[in-house]
Amino acid sequence: MCGIIGYIGKKNALPILLDGLRQLEYRGYDSAGICLAKDASLKIVKRSGKIKDLINAIKNRKDLGQANLGIGHSRWATHGAPTNINAHPHTDCSNGIAVVHNGIIENFVEIKERLIREGHKFTSETDSEVIAHLIEEYYTGDLEKAVLKAIKYLKGSFAIGIVSSNEPDKLIAARKESPLVVGVGKDENFIASDIPAILRYTKKVIYVDDGEIVVLKKDSIKVLDSNGKVIKKRVDTIKWNISSAQKSGFTHFMLKEIHEQPRVLSQIISSRIKGSSAIELDGINLSGAAIKRISNIIILACGTAYHAGLVGKYLIERFTKIPVAVDVSSEFRYRKPIIRKNTVVIAISQSGETADTLAAVKEAKSRGATVISICNVVGSSLARVSDGILYTYAGPEIGVASTKAYTAQLAMLYLLSFYIAEKKGLLRKRVKRFLIKEFKSLPEILQEILKKKEGIKKLAGKHLNFGSFLYLGRNLNFPTALEGALKLKEISYIPAEGYPAGEMKHGPIALIDEYRAVVCIAPDSAIYEKMVSNIQEICARMGKVIIVATEGDKEIRRFTGEIIYVPKTDELFSPIVSVVPLQLLAYYIAVKKCCDVDQPRNLAKSVTVE
Ligand code: M6R
Repeated sequence: MCGIIGYIGKKNALPILLDGLRQLEYRGYDSAGICLAKDASLKIVKRSGKIKDLINAIKNRKDLGQANLGIGHSRWATHGAPTNINAHPHTDCSNGIAVVHNGIIENFVEIKERLIREGHKFTSETDSEVIAHLIEEYYTGDLEKAVLKAIKYLKGSFAIGIVSSNEPDKLIAARKESPLVVGVGKDENFIASDIPAILRYTKKVIYVDDGEIVVLKKDSIKVLDSNGKVIKKRVDTIKWNISSAQKSGFTHFMLKEIHEQPRVLSQIISSRIKGSSAIELDGINLSGAAIKRISNIIILACGTAYHAGLVGKYLIERFTKIPVAVDVSSEFRYRKPIIRKNTVVIAISQSGETADTLAAVKEAKSRGATVISICNVVGSSLARVSDGILYTYAGPEIGVASTKAYTAQLAMLYLLSFYIAEKKGLLRKRVKRFLIKEFKSLPEILQEILKKKEGIKKLAGKHLNFGSFLYLGRNLNFPTALEGALKLKEISYIPAEGYPAGEMKHGPIALIDEYRAVVCIAPDSAIYEKMVSNIQEICARMGKVIIVATEGDKEIRRFTGEIIYVPKTDELFSPIVSVVPLQLLAYYIAVKKCCDVDQPRNLAKSVTVE
């Protein structure tokens, strides 16, 4: 939800800001803007539309010239439509202070009314504009002091970048509940919402924490707490490089990320399984005794991560005998949830910045829960508020539709359930050896499935014009049905619904006719026959089925020729195996419909607003 970038140094800031905005565009892409601080004045260009529209607008601005200080923004509209005026940066009355903001100022109406009474003139409908005017209100010749004072009045969430024409040697940033990193360079420094925006220039970063304010000059970085006291921060080194955040020859990030799944799983296997079968989950931060005391587990997540959580429930309950509840983060916190003395919350999030999940985790912690997170982004807000953290290390996921993060989250949930079961003495050695052997075969199996992509592409071509899709699965693959449907709807805009196949007769069966495409997930399993009965019921009503089945299943051919065969694996691992063809199916349907696969309408990669 919005990306911010800032540069101060010796170089020309403009190309650095635009490059950073391209890397951040996944966070919001309905408008964008930049501000350059030059010759004691601020030069601003803002445009609704994509970064390319901003770049076109900049081409017509011959007056911009070179500046060594600037800020930029890519927007996902919350307050006010995506227009040129509502695009960031926003300025104060004198156009001397410019601000870019990611987050939501919850009390902006109250602040705006007060400032209007005091004579301030507003131009946009945004909540963000109040920040510039509030700083102006408190400015008495020292930007740092004015920012410190102004942000005390802001309620809600923010990562902000600020420049002033009066102090063109300074870039100021502040954070509360929205991501912000500082890039540490030589004779130059950066701020950004996410690391890929600055990785081309530096691998040294400082993660800014809530309540902190950063004052950057070209050759110094000062971090202050909310009282203005200087604090010492650690400088971390990023271990991955910019190519991880590029398309590397693929037409879309989503396709690249689907193809990365075998590698991501191999990496999880090699880093988490030592020797033949020892599982290492050090980050969990729970002793064997504490694990034995766990009374219940609550999994909290949103979207795709929630679907991973649903699979996690099956796994954890089956192996550890601990009762598990799975909750959508945005529902959990408003329900006065019951947390017991030994309740463990598992929060799952690719970005670690999802506002709903962060708020739910805070609620759970305030009620005494121990929180373990499964998260992809190192140093994210979620990682920092959790008691234990299991990183998926899947590398940056840029496509808005989550793919590799999902299979990586699943992989961690398998390992976590085996790990807890073992600590509780519930996993026999022989069973564990078998499970780990199967688990280790997954990268190769996924590689085999990727080889089938041309067939899936053809299938996509035949199903473009269906007005809606139903996805059905049972047991462990009910979440797969939900995830397949989510992938299709979010990138192709075709209405799609996921259902437990057994529930079909309780309602959705009324939808079935020859115009309905029904994707059935029917791998080899203990409930295979039940799934076949459901498929029979759909065919009897002329529904057009596409089936995901296990190689060698000839029986299934009596229903349709539209079968995606996946290699045989123990049914326990079928959620990882079955989801990949569904990701590809959604991808190719969206591509054939000429949809913007990586940046679907109305969405943003990390949802940092509640
Ligand atoms: O970063 P998170 O995993 O917390 O994000 C949660 C959801 O916003 C995310 O999974 C979303 O549903 C994706 N667009 C799904 O593809």
